[in-house]
Amino acid sequence: MAEDELVRMEKINKFYGRIHALRDVSLTVKTQEVVGLLGDNGAGKSTLIKVLSGAVPLTSGEIIIKGKKVELKNTAEAIANGIETIFQDSALVPQLSIARNLFLGREPIKGSRFFGRLDQSAMNASARDLLKRVGITKDIPPETAIAALSGGERQAVAIARAMQFDSDLIILDEPTNNLGVAETQGVLRFVREARDTGHSCIFIAHNIHHVFQVVDRIIVMRGGRVVADDIDPKKTTIAQVERIITGEEMLNAIKG
Ligand SMILES: Nc1ncnc2c1ncn2[C@@H]1O[C@H](COP(=O)(O)OP(=O)(O)O)[C@@H](O)[C@H]1O
Ligand SMILES: [Mg+2]
Repeated sequence: MAEDELVRMEKINKFYGRIHALRDVSLTVKTQEVVGLLGDNGAGKSTLIKVLSGAVPLTSGEIIIKGKKVELKNTAEAIANGIETIFQDSALVPQLSIARNLFLGREPIKGSRFFGRLDQSAMNASARDLLKRVGITKDIPPETAIAALSGGERQAVAIARAMQFDSDLIILDEPTNNLGVAETQGVLRFVREARDTGHSCIFIAHNIHHVFQVVDRIIVMRGGRVVADDIDPKKTTIAQVERIITGEEMLNAIKG
């Protein structure tokens, strides 16, 4: 194992019934590396990151984190291993406040562990701080229900949620979909900041331009396989990557 290797996935296969969604997928993510994961609809990107975040079980293969083989039976186990994910279908609860959503399942407690109350003021204070960090400059009270927010603001809350727990690897599945220009810039800035503060990211986005703006390396999937895993966005054009995504162009980096 390379010294700076954070995550390694080895020959992952995933079947959904008879659908072979992942075929011998191997990839690595290094410490403080932002990896862009690209591929057409149905290529297997979301399935791959769901396996890595404990949301769906793999059929075969291995996941190695910091040199240790792990079994991720649920998202809590992935989080315990330093992997935090913002899913495409973000799991915010619309009826609850911003502050409650930020701490869902991990609420700070005032008083004893069993008889304490939720520490509402601590949650509100951190919520305010987090919202500022993800670029929500509008003064939205943390007590506001998620249902009252715009799509971009919800996305920012989901990102803030992932940010605060200081995970090693943050996975973002299509975080810029349906976002306005300013909100998109907020997400991209967050990814850069995450790397600058020592985190790794896997960034999935439909818009290749967004990916090119922030990633160190690009991995392309097609038909459940990794077809290129070492594309340098500084030495490759967007048009070339598009041709790899569609299968019109083969690269030297292509795996068997
Ligand atoms: N829960 C599921 N049940 C059955 N098939 C699924 C499920 N989720 C994804 N698939 C199938 O697995 C393949 C990969 O899907 P997905 O990982 O969502 O691709 P991507 O995120 O690259 O668009 C597709 O053929 C999709 O229809
Ligand atoms: Mg997807």
